[in-house]
Amino acid sequence: MITKCVFPVAGYGTRFLPATKSTPKEMLPVVNKPLLHYAVEEACAAGIQDMIMVTSRGKHSIQDYFDVSYELDSHIAGTPAEKSLYSIRGLLKNCTFSYTRQNEIKGLGHAVFSARHLLDSQPFAVTLADDLCITPKNSPGILSSLQQLHQEHGCSVVALAEVDDEKVSRYGVIRGKQLSDRVWKIEDMVEKPTLKEAPSRLAVVGRYLLTSDLLELLGQTEAGRNNEIQITDALKQKAQKGEMLGYLFDGQWFDCGSVKGFVAATNHVYSNLSTD
Ligand code: G1P
Repeated sequence: MITKCVFPVAGYGTRFLPATKSTPKEMLPVVNKPLLHYAVEEACAAGIQDMIMVTSRGKHSIQDYFDVSYELDSHIAGTPAEKSLYSIRGLLKNCTFSYTRQNEIKGLGHAVFSARHLLDSQPFAVTLADDLCITPKNSPGILSSLQQLHQEHGCSVVALAEVDDEKVSRYGVIRGKQLSDRVWKIEDMVEKPTLKEAPSRLAVVGRYLLTSDLLELLGQTEAGRNNEIQITDALKQKAQKGEMLGYLFDGQWFDCGSVKGFVAATNHVYSNLSTD
């Protein structure tokens, strides 16, 4: 059973400036909950209890959010507004939150590596909160599906989604063999390839289930695309040894790292709220 999930939340969110000048990108609300709330909720629903945030300067509001606010609680106690806090209270009751700093902005691989002292020899999850993933109500969430595949095959697993030609250069893209309807054996991976370099249209979505040996690989990985230490480059080594699976997840993916994706997510969540 996976108990720990790493949330890299140290980035500047430059695509959302000036909104992200003093508010972390992960705290931008999609309707009434910050992006990070959805991500933690998803991990908690998959049975994960230990949430590990890799932060940087100016991210204090994340710590305050995942904490009790006595003044607010006593102010709204017994009023209809109290209902709005049920979900965050549930997360605080069921999960622990740890924080560590990524003291250099050196990429996603470096962010995950920065949390190594909070991890152990067990496999762990990594969730990128700006990828908002909505799965059908009666299906297991993505992290649960990744866990199940890990239990069956014993290797690391990433979530995949099919993207259009014009989007391949934004993501990690895989080459692999299809094992079943939704499962791929990954043979190679390229971070943000040009359309010509892209080995497929299957992109990595920000949900990873990683075996702990990945941490050592991350420590040895040189800077790659954009001069950053890319998690894709470490995973690629596992893929080339035949130790990496991909799971084409069932549901909708909103890349909230882009304004367009963020607005689409907001519209989607809102339209579902109003018909609930
Ligand atoms: C990161 C990963 C990339 C992955 C993407 C999913 O990129 O490096 O492989 O496809 O997340 O959102 P970023 O969005 O940090 O540029």
